[in-house]
Amino acid sequence: MRTTTVRVPAKINLSLGVGPRREDGYHPLATVYQAVDLCDEVRATEVDGDSVSVEVHFDGDGWREQAPVPTDENNLAVKAALALRDAFGVKSGAALSIRKVIPVMGGMAGGSADGAAALVACDALWGTGASRAELEEIAAGLGSDVPFLLHGGTALGGGRGEEVSPVLARGRFHWVFAIADHGLSTAEVYAGYDARHADAPPPMPEVPPTLLTALAAGDAAGVGASLSNDLQPVALALRPELRDVLAVGEQGGALGTLVSGSGPTVMLLAEDADHSAQLARMLLAEGVCVDAVQATGPEPGAHLI
Ligand code: C5P
Repeated sequence: MRTTTVRVPAKINLSLGVGPRREDGYHPLATVYQAVDLCDEVRATEVDGDSVSVEVHFDGDGWREQAPVPTDENNLAVKAALALRDAFGVKSGAALSIRKVIPVMGGMAGGSADGAAALVACDALWGTGASRAELEEIAAGLGSDVPFLLHGGTALGGGRGEEVSPVLARGRFHWVFAIADHGLSTAEVYAGYDARHADAPPPMPEVPPTLLTALAAGDAAGVGASLSNDLQPVALALRPELRDVLAVGEQGGALGTLVSGSGPTVMLLAEDADHSAQLARMLLAEGVCVDAVQATGPEPGAHLI
């Protein structure tokens, strides 16, 4: 049986500016995405017949299995395969197998990553020959973060997040991710954001110019000082204990500490690999998270298309 395997990184938002809720329920974003080398793997294998199935395997640590991942057509990898098949009139099926490393419902786009990887894997398996633009269009239909996961590296995100353009970024950054013991619903966090702005809608978002300057210069301290996330106050209101994680980052001299996306994962930017190991040890010693995972980003060559 023929098989294709695609490795896909998690994403973080170095800045996440969120505007007023749109008519369609989504929010306009001005964000800087970065891919980090915490990677899921999606394997697509040929099957007899036209069924598209998925199985999910968790790697190692018990916390990864705490959140349920759908194994029906609600799984974004299955949705991606079906959308590609519809778009190109493919008659074949596929057995998808996901090796999950990215925290589930952690604010790191794990589900979107699997969707992006499944698109690329099935395109190769079925010989669809989809162009980059065609894959990006299908990706945007699957979720706001999916086009960035195809793109990788460091990029600007506009629209509702699906409009991705490259940004000049130098250097590799050393991150530590503080994993929470249970996930947060992105939709719930955005609803909390709306409630906070019920009386005064937020302005249209912008990316902080200091962040772009620091990225262009490969200045990690400057990047750390410019990290920002409009959803952080909502995540902290829903999970007050995340403040303890932020405090450990500050005590440990992190260059910057921020809730990742809609949370609850918190990211700490370290000076180098040794500092990152030290921050991870501190987080675990303080008992403020279930795991502390070190990763660098952006991963060279992690672009899917
Ligand atoms: O696009 P995606 O399906 O990943 O979004 C999940 C949920 O997050 C949406 O249903 C919506 O509630 C919220 N969202 C939003 N504005 C965005 C992106 C996501 O309100 N720009």
